[in-house]
Amino acid sequence: MKLICCNFKMNLLKKDIINYLDVINNKIKKDNLIFFPSIPYISMFNEAGFKVGSQDISFKELGSITGDTSILQLKELGISYTIIGHSERREYFDDDKYISNKINLALTNSIKVILCIGEKIKQEKIDTEFLKKEIDEAFKNNLNLINNNNLIIAYEPIWAIGSGEIPSNICIEETIFFIKKHIFDKYKININVLYGGSVSLDNIDILESVKGIDGYLIGGCSLKPENILNISSKLM
Ligand code: PGA
Repeated sequence: MKLICCNFKMNLLKKDIINYLDVINNKIKKDNLIFFPSIPYISMFNEAGFKVGSQDISFKELGSITGDTSILQLKELGISYTIIGHSERREYFDDDKYISNKINLALTNSIKVILCIGEKIKQEKIDTEFLKKEIDEAFKNNLNLINNNNLIIAYEPIWAIGSGEIPSNICIEETIFFIKKHIFDKYKININVLYGGSVSLDNIDILESVKGIDGYLIGGCSLKPENILNISSKLM
């Protein structure tokens, strides 16, 4: 079953979350759906019986890191997943250098990782070297922890995020095939790969015809509960 991961980023307020839950409750299949709301609202989704994740974790387990949130604290809110290496974290918070360490912390705490990778600029051909570098950097030091089930890659071309544009079907298909093959050849792990970047009601049918996509990481479009109800019904 394809995963639907809803990344709210720093959007929505408490009243919106209450309304969101009202709209979807009892109307949506929960097994393949994971919500990544802002930290203050994680427990609201958890208490309503939905799977929840955090949009990031601190690179330290506990300690003097003002403004950060520990994985142990997030676990108390009910998370079973965390996104690591989202391009916005890489851009604003220098996350590139903490990826390997954050994956280590998540997996040793039995939290599943959605690792975001993707090239910055739209290109004619897949930038295999860039993708390999992001994958190898993330896997280094964590090989004894990663297995087929606890790490999922989200392929998110950065230029597609929030732009309304998505790569061609063939490009997504080839890139996902490349990512899976590289990880299998080098690490002997069968990884699931999500597509992320401007997924919407307008392109979900097109994306559904692409081979190899194991689910979606959805930002803007997931802010409206009606959209997620709609997408969820299409993927069943
Ligand atoms: P978008 O964001 O769907 O709004 O493009 C996706 C993401 O950043 O994960």
